[in-house]
Amino acid sequence: MSPKIESHLQEERVFSPDPEFSAQARISSLAQYKKLYRQSIQQPDVFWSKEASELAWRKPWSQVLDWKAPFAKWFVGAKLNVAENCVDRHARSHRRNKAAIIFEGEPGDQRVITYAQLEREVNRFANVLEKQGVKAKDRVLIYMPMIPEAAIAMLACARIGAVHSVVFGGFSADSIVDRLEDSGASLIVTADGGWRRGKIVPLKENVDAALEKYSHVRKVIVFRRCGQPVSMTPDRDLWWHEEVEQVKSSHKAKAFDSEHPLFILYTSGSTGKPKGILHTSGGYLTGTYTTFKYIFDIREEDVYWCTADVGWITGHSYIVYGPLANGATQVMYEGAPNHPDFGRFWKIIEQHGVSIFYTAPTAIRAFIKAGDHYPANHDLSSLRLLGSVGEPINPEAWMWYHKHIGGKRCPIVDTWWQTETGAIMLTPLPGCTPTKPGTVTLPFFGVDAAIFDENGKECAPNEGGKLVIRQPWPSMARSIYGDKARYQKTYWSDYKGIYTAGDGARRDQDGNFWIVGRIDDVLNVSGHRLGTAEVESSLVAHPAVAEAAVVGRPDDLKGQAVVCFVTLKESHQPSDDLLQALRQHVGKSIGAIAKPDDLYFAPALPKTRSGKIMRRLLKELVTHGKITGNVTTLDDVNVIANLAACMKSTT
Ligand code: WT7
Repeated sequence: MSPKIESHLQEERVFSPDPEFSAQARISSLAQYKKLYRQSIQQPDVFWSKEASELAWRKPWSQVLDWKAPFAKWFVGAKLNVAENCVDRHARSHRRNKAAIIFEGEPGDQRVITYAQLEREVNRFANVLEKQGVKAKDRVLIYMPMIPEAAIAMLACARIGAVHSVVFGGFSADSIVDRLEDSGASLIVTADGGWRRGKIVPLKENVDAALEKYSHVRKVIVFRRCGQPVSMTPDRDLWWHEEVEQVKSSHKAKAFDSEHPLFILYTSGSTGKPKGILHTSGGYLTGTYTTFKYIFDIREEDVYWCTADVGWITGHSYIVYGPLANGATQVMYEGAPNHPDFGRFWKIIEQHGVSIFYTAPTAIRAFIKAGDHYPANHDLSSLRLLGSVGEPINPEAWMWYHKHIGGKRCPIVDTWWQTETGAIMLTPLPGCTPTKPGTVTLPFFGVDAAIFDENGKECAPNEGGKLVIRQPWPSMARSIYGDKARYQKTYWSDYKGIYTAGDGARRDQDGNFWIVGRIDDVLNVSGHRLGTAEVESSLVAHPAVAEAAVVGRPDDLKGQAVVCFVTLKESHQPSDDLLQALRQHVGKSIGAIAKPDDLYFAPALPKTRSGKIMRRLLKELVTHGKITGNVTTLDDVNVIANLAACMKSTT
């Protein structure tokens, strides 16, 4: 039996939306929300077809939903072009010369791209891809810095029906290899590098290293961002700027089926192999369009800024597809929040008049640590709405965000969702939902969320359990790429026909959801998912390592820190050098975010009689410094004393 999920947080402070904000909001009272929510659950077809009809379809649907759990088809029979919805239709409207992207590079360079310009750029790049032989459903791997060309490359893929798979620029060459192998991509779009804390991230070099291990990539298109010399392999590597010169800025977009695959995005699970989450076109676009519209209550004159990277789902849904489908103006920033210092974000907000700001708790905690004077030195009065995403926001961080960034006047939308859900699922609506620090409050329209106990019974108020979604929604993942069985097993096997998110949560007496955190072997490091099994596999691949167990430890800044227990092979001895070598090894094989924060050389790991590593005990040990939990299933109780000793000796 798995231990009960407990949630201890008590929070009494309630913040109701400002009447002035409510007055002009799309949803301006809780009664209005409740009515529309009830309708959206009782008649999802009616709600979603109304929302979807605000998009441009080339052919209407014959049926809103075809649901054979766990496989959904939304807007059956309909055809559309996703890029046309995000770009062309605005470029042909009053938004033609409206800024789509206000870009700021880390070194301080700025560019404004209007919808009309974005249309030409996307068209050109679509032509380049087609010229290189990319066809509908072909996979294109995108490994780019946070520059407009990342979005342009994604939209160009969407335009021609190619499937993009964006790999976060912080991931290593080995991570690229895994994703190439799984997706079967034949073309890569990258850059010479990107700026991060004043240094160049060597993106092209990483691609070159990856391609030594994977030979099915025909072409690599390289955007020149930093200008440093990079090696270009003849016949394989092409410069972006040279290619776009040779093609037209017009491109006739074909229409694709509503269920045509749009992208694959890899995310961590409880096994070593990342899962390629597959999203399709019509439903995903409807979900991101609708959530962005209501949750950020977007206005024509808003300047929106989401600080995520396009390499994560937040960047896909709330930098590229959601905002652009709404014809919004947004800021895109390339670099680190603390370059040259912790005032950078506030300077950007002041300079560009940002009105909606969407960031992550890990960033907020880093700002708190850096000091209140950074935001205080800037005029943040343009802000009217704040958002948070990626992990539970601690009430103290929420209060700081409210006071020091929002000037006590901006509503905060704490949005819960996942790579798999495609769009925000649990969230306040800024004009109507009373918020309390730490709760993601209520479900979005059409989201039938609940808390279940082990037997599939809905939990009583304030009783902890598993967060589930009982009805399909348009932006839901369609599968794990190439592995329907794993998709079914991972998300749909706890309760029949019901989606299990993998998060523990409770619902309070007012119906608000409080997220406790992951219940599987997945860590949340700085708002990013990291499978303990991935780090363990990486460690075990090192020649000195016999066995490894990885757990999370609470960390003030990162949310969770990566703690590793490593058993060495007989032929190797613990040493400082080996410790450093193992940290580097993990960094190289996965990426810097996975680098162990603590690493202990343990003579043995705690195991059950059947040989299962008891990570629960290790977690207790690193969190509380001792083990008080049940150890009766432990094979050898002496292991515990040895572990405590090894933690002293290795630090
Ligand atoms: C996991 C999904 C969705 C974009 C970023 C992460 C955690 C996400 C919240 C929130 C508490 C949150 C959950 C979830 N999470 N948002 N507002 N409050 N926890 O996407 O990498 O797919 O991770 O992030 O544990 O399952 P992801």
